Amino acid sequence: MTIAAATTAFCLSGLFLCNGLRLNFSSIARPTMALTPIKKIAFSDTLFEHIEEIQGDRPWGRLLDAGTGLHSLRWISTLLHEGSTVTSWSAVTADEGMRKSVQSEARGLGMLSDEGSIGTVLIGNWQDEMTVLCEDELFDTIIVDYLVGSIDGFAPYYQDLIFPRIVRHLSPGGRIYVVGLQPIPDKVGNGDDPKAQLVCEVRKVRDACILLGGHRCYREFPADWINRHLARAELEVIETKKFPILYSHSAIVRQINVGRSKLSLFPNKELAESMRITLDKLETESKEATASAERGRLKLGFDYIVAAELVA
Ligand SMILES: C[S@@+](CC[C@H](N)C(=O)[O-])C[C@H]1O[C@@H](n2cnc3c(N)ncnc32)[C@H](O)[C@@H]1O
Repeated sequence: MTIAAATTAFCLSGLFLCNGLRLNFSSIARPTMALTPIKKIAFSDTLFEHIEEIQGDRPWGRLLDAGTGLHSLRWISTLLHEGSTVTSWSAVTADEGMRKSVQSEARGLGMLSDEGSIGTVLIGNWQDEMTVLCEDELFDTIIVDYLVGSIDGFAPYYQDLIFPRIVRHLSPGGRIYVVGLQPIPDKVGNGDDPKAQLVCEVRKVRDACILLGGHRCYREFPADWINRHLARAELEVIETKKFPILYSHSAIVRQINVGRSKLSLFPNKELAESMRITLDKLETESKEATASAERGRLKLGFDYIVAAELVA
C-alpha cells in the first residue's frame, strides 16, 4: 500500500468518438500518429502497479478514467510512453474545480496539446441521462479509482446504478478495474492493533465536522459489495486483491485538518470551539500512538482492487 493511495482512500470527451462498432481486442489498432511527447514523472503507487501486473501484455486500447483526479491522471501519463498500447484516453469528473486542475495538469504533462492529442478531460455526471456522458463511446479499459466512495457527494443514492451505467461503455471482452477503500469500522476488530482505534475516532469526528459544516461525507463501499454489483452488471470478476493500509501521523493529521476546515461553517461558535478542542486532542493522541507504533504507522483496514471483464 503506498502512502499516496492510503491518503486518497482516507480522504478521502472522447476525441475518439465511437463509430458505433463494437470492437474486440483483436481489432484494437495502435495509434498511427506519433504521440505528443509526454513529460516523464516520478510516479509510484502499489495499487496502479498491481493493475499493470494484472493487465500484463493486454493492450489498454481506449482507456476511460471514470472518476478522475490528479493521481489517476498522472498514472495515465506514465502509460503514454513510446509504443504505448493506449489508443485514446478520456478522464471524467463531475466537479468543475477538478476538471480545471486535471486539465491544467494534463496540459503541463503534454497529454493535451493544440497539435492534437489522443485524450480529453470531460465534465459530467454519470447520473445525468439528459447530457448522456460519453454518448455512443466504447472503451476497452475502464478505471474506477475511488469513484464509488465519492458518488454520494455528486449523485446521492446512485451507487447501485453506477456499474450498469458505466458498463454501457465497455466493449465486449473489455476490462474494468475498481479501486476503493474498505469502509473504516467504528471499532477495531479482534486481530487489529488497539492503538488503531484512533483512526476510527478521527474518521467519526471528521465526518461529524463535514455534516455540521453542511456538506456530504464520502461513503465508501466494501469489496464484497463491489463484487456483488459488478456481477449484477453482468461482469465476470477475475480478481479481488486487498492492500493493507498503514496510517502515518501526517496522514491522520490531514484528515483532522479536513475536520478543522469545516469549523467556520458550523451553526454556532460554541459547537465549533468544542470540536476544535476535540480535533486538537486527536492530533496529540495521533502523535503518541504513531510514535510507539512499528515504523511510526498504525495498520488498519485495506484498499482493494477488483478486476472484472465483460465476457465477449
Ligand atoms: C475521489 S475523486 C478522485 C479519485 C481519482 N481517481 C484520483 O486520482 O484521486 C472522485 C472523482 O469521481 C468524480 N465523481 C464522483 N461522482 C461522480 C458522478 N456521479 N459522475 C461523474 N463523476 C463523478 C468526482 O468528480 C471526482 O473527479
